[in-house]
Amino acid sequence: MGRAKKVILAYSGGVDTSVCIPYLKQEWGVEEIITLAADLGQGDELEPVREKALKSGASESLVADVKDIFVKDYAFPSIQANALYENRYPLGTALARPLIAKILVEAAAKYGADAIAHGCTGKGNDQVRFDVSCAALNPNLKILAPAREWGMSREQTIAYGEKFGIPAPVKKSSPFSIDKNLLGRSIEAGTLEDPANEPPEEIYEMTKAIADTPKEPEYLEIGFQKGLPTTINGTAKNPVELIEQLNKIVGNHGIGRIDMIENRLVGIKSREIYESPAMVVLINAHRDLESLTLTADVTQYKRGIEETYTKLVYNGLWYSPLKAALDAFIQQTQERVSGVVRLKLFKGNAIIVGRWSDNTLYTPDLATYGADDQFDHKAAEGFIYVWGLPTRIWAQGNK
Ligand code: ARG
Repeated sequence: MGRAKKVILAYSGGVDTSVCIPYLKQEWGVEEIITLAADLGQGDELEPVREKALKSGASESLVADVKDIFVKDYAFPSIQANALYENRYPLGTALARPLIAKILVEAAAKYGADAIAHGCTGKGNDQVRFDVSCAALNPNLKILAPAREWGMSREQTIAYGEKFGIPAPVKKSSPFSIDKNLLGRSIEAGTLEDPANEPPEEIYEMTKAIADTPKEPEYLEIGFQKGLPTTINGTAKNPVELIEQLNKIVGNHGIGRIDMIENRLVGIKSREIYESPAMVVLINAHRDLESLTLTADVTQYKRGIEETYTKLVYNGLWYSPLKAALDAFIQQTQERVSGVVRLKLFKGNAIIVGRWSDNTLYTPDLATYGADDQFDHKAAEGFIYVWGLPTRIWAQGNK
């Protein structure tokens, strides 16, 4: 008896996930493998990927275009949450995993599979995100992660695959480990493993080097409706289009590169490079519009919620009761977050230079230092007396 009969395997077309196919059959006695590749806007041709799975021994090879759901149901809520892990990483990889898990679980139901499989190793965050998300969506499914157990080096993995007709990568594969989708690229390993090393220019694809960016600044206006980005320079865009176009506009100015030492859930610090042009700018613009349209207490309270939300998503708890409760809070706050944020893009910077909203809480006749000031200055005195009373009493008792 094998570990499972029929398996849905998360498939990328790379060596590791391809080798999973013969490995699961030969070593773990799986009878049938159906692969599933998700189109998240990573820009790879997926027809060759589909065929490669069949050549590697899959009985069926599925490709799911989930770009629209990815942006609408995963990226957009995290913009509303201003989600930046450790203040910097816009979660491009982390947001994709619960969606992939969802379509794996749906495929398992449709094809009557008893297990889900993925090619993650035991060192990363992605294994946690897949395993926990799948368990949350269907706790009866088994989860198989052969790369967590097989203990093969890269060379051994390639050699194992070749025995079963899986070709070794043609060109000497990149020394970097790269995950990419519409929201950006996550790059690690190779020379990046030394945190002292400057990232080589060749790792970037979505963002220009500062030396090559335009010599003149460019203005950009992003419009939001209830916390969701809807327009670029006054023109309505559907969610996928909006992300794609912003990536281009903003990446052209070298904006959205992040170089950080990050704390993984499994306790390891890793050096990660991200380029995530659209997401970085959208989150900054969204947060700015909140400062105009939310009350002080909601704005400040929400910061704590955002921190918890971001950690939950990073740590694989997308489908969890706490996450659902935080979503409800965040949704409630977004009702009036509509308006426009104007930015100036120049040499790696997206500088917010203006914002306006029909729901603005900014009151010029209270804020002004001019003659038409409506603020009751006298009222401040009584307020300060009461506000400072506990401190005054404490100071008196202190002497
Ligand atoms: N550290 C990031 C995360 O946990 C990205 C990991 C993506 N994998 C890669 N091969 N770079 O979300």
